[in-house]
Amino acid sequence: MMKRKVVLITGCSSGLGYETALWLAEKGYIVYASMRNLKKNKRLVEESKQRNLNIHICELDVCNIDTIDNCVSGIIENEKRIDILINNAGFAVLGKFTESTNEDFERQFATNFYGALNCSRAVLPYMIDNKEGTIINVSSILGLTGAGTLSAYCSSKFALEGWSESIRCELKKKGINIVLVEPGFFRTEIYNNVSYVSENKKQYSISSMGGSPIRVAKRIESILKKKRPRRRYTIGYDSYFGCMIKRFFPDFISEKLVK
Ligand SMILES: NC(=O)c1ccc[n+]([C@@H]2O[C@H](COP(=O)([O-])OP(=O)(O)OC[C@H]3O[C@@H](n4cnc5c(N)ncnc54)[C@H](OP(=O)(O)O)[C@@H]3O)[C@@H](O)[C@H]2O)c1
Repeated sequence: MMKRKVVLITGCSSGLGYETALWLAEKGYIVYASMRNLKKNKRLVEESKQRNLNIHICELDVCNIDTIDNCVSGIIENEKRIDILINNAGFAVLGKFTESTNEDFERQFATNFYGALNCSRAVLPYMIDNKEGTIINVSSILGLTGAGTLSAYCSSKFALEGWSESIRCELKKKGINIVLVEPGFFRTEIYNNVSYVSENKKQYSISSMGGSPIRVAKRIESILKKKRPRRRYTIGYDSYFGCMIKRFFPDFISEKLVK
């Protein structure tokens, strides 16, 4: 019988993390669905009960090392290993660069970039000991192409891309896969959770759009089944075409499309 893999996912109170936790649990993974605010666990608790799934919900704020260490040591105590980490937690700072401060960038990077580093540092020693493991970094098509009023968000995801590609080279020899996923636009709470750089919110608009987040969950599961996953996977047609245009077309075309 195949060993059930142990997976830790960050940011499971809503959106892509929530759907991925449910989908992987349905597919037989031992799922540790983490969230920074356990008061938001009700939906996941009820849904997993309804589907008869056993999901472990734990507290983890990717910006708080103590919560990460507590969560990871709890998993190690129970399971003796962590096979997969999905660095999913994130949010978007929205607004023009000229109206932003470095603090806006710092809080964006603290979660979207350093949050992934923090969690990876906590699980990697166990993965290296086991000589296997997979870390999936949830980036974005906006980690490959810039977009107006999203400079903080795009920068944080570009940083995630560079870090992820680099450590992939280092960790391959140790049996660890580092994989980037690049979702296009998916209907999640990210649009409601936007954090503005400016007091005048009305000058920017961002609305919930895109495909169902379950598609991302299914794609992640299909990546986890691969023996030798690639370094990056687009998710959604918008992401696929965005990626192709960036790679094969002159810059002025991708700039026009992003506009
Ligand atoms: N939806 C899209 O169109 C899209 C496209 C490309 C990439 N992405 C990426 O997908 C990931 C998930 O976003 P989503 O779309 O699913 O948005 P979401 O529904 O807003 O979910 C984001 C999750 O991250 C959590 N989070 C935020 N800061 C955190 C922290 N410091 N520690 C732990 N958890 C934290 C949120 O928790 P709270 O509920 O406590 O805030 C929430 O659970 C993000 O990295 C995002 O950049 C999304």
